[in-house]
Amino acid sequence: MGHPTFVYGRPITPNTKPSTVELHKEFQSTGVTIIQGELSEHEKLVSIIKQIDVVISVLGAPLLLEQLKIIDAIKIAGNVKRFIPSDFGCEEERITALPPFQSYLDNRKKIRTATEATGTPFTFVSSTCFGEYFLNFLFHSRDQQSEELTIYGSGQAKAVLTSEEDIATYTIKVANDPRTCNRIVFYRPPRNIVSQLDLASLWEKKTARYFKKVFVSEEEIVKLSETSEHPHNVRAAILHSIFVKGGTTNFELREDDLEVSKLYPDFDYTTVDHLIDVFLANAPNFEHAAL
Ligand SMILES: NC(=O)c1ccc[n+]([C@@H]2O[C@H](COP(=O)([O-])OP(=O)(O)OC[C@H]3O[C@@H](n4cnc5c(N)ncnc54)[C@H](OP(=O)(O)O)[C@@H]3O)[C@@H](O)[C@H]2O)c1
Repeated sequence: MGHPTFVYGRPITPNTKPSTVELHKEFQSTGVTIIQGELSEHEKLVSIIKQIDVVISVLGAPLLLEQLKIIDAIKIAGNVKRFIPSDFGCEEERITALPPFQSYLDNRKKIRTATEATGTPFTFVSSTCFGEYFLNFLFHSRDQQSEELTIYGSGQAKAVLTSEEDIATYTIKVANDPRTCNRIVFYRPPRNIVSQLDLASLWEKKTARYFKKVFVSEEEIVKLSETSEHPHNVRAAILHSIFVKGGTTNFELREDDLEVSKLYPDFDYTTVDHLIDVFLANAPNFEHAAL
């Protein structure tokens, strides 16, 4: 989108995954400046942040509190015009989850509070599922020869599935938008609101296959969240919030809430229907009825 971009990432070592090395090369080829460093290198972090206006954190969920180091550096640098912490999920102010997931949401709240305390302009982004991530989880990660499909809960709760690329694009728009300063922004594009049963029927239509639905009850999911080892307990609790309780859609947006598809009506987002087409086209083991 034309913004000069820096990526602060962990140093490449002989143990770095080849995919990360490739990603660095890909970023560099598009003009991104990669700075190799650790979050614990405070002086380095401050000196990089002094050169930029907008900080977007994408640290993984287990590391959310590590963002306090970024917040400290932002405070000292004193020049940041917008900070977007790593949220990108259920809205922590509007849902209550089972304990293993609630502890992540509580960490997110701590990061929001610490962000607000710096006085740095911020935007909190939330309330969507990563589309391809969840298509992969629901349909692709299972035995592809299987005629069965696992449905969590009744399958009727609605979730928002947004393509990762669109989430990235919206986030960059939001980061540069005066309307979103010091606000929460919801990602709820209307054509991406679907239940698991909606998804299953789209999937069946597009693959010309029929799957026997195997329902996992809410009680079983709650039990899994209580008895499984980490991180399976967290996964069960997340599935419970999103697909049993409908945690990305089960609250009304208020009149003054900001939602991305309304903020940027001209942006042609990827509908979930199209996202499945793209997913199937990239998944060689699935026959796509339309191909
Ligand atoms: N809504 C959804 O459906 C959904 C789904 C997934 C994730 N999310 C959210 O998206 C955000 C990013 O999650 P993710 O799954 O993409 O995270 P991730 O893959 O675990 O990691 C994201 C980044 O954190 C870096 N990282 C990992 N360990 C680190 C360490 N010790 N020190 C410094 N950097 C480290 C990784 O660097 P390397 O590349 O060097 O490993 C990577 O760039 C989180 O807020 C998560 O909750 C949402």
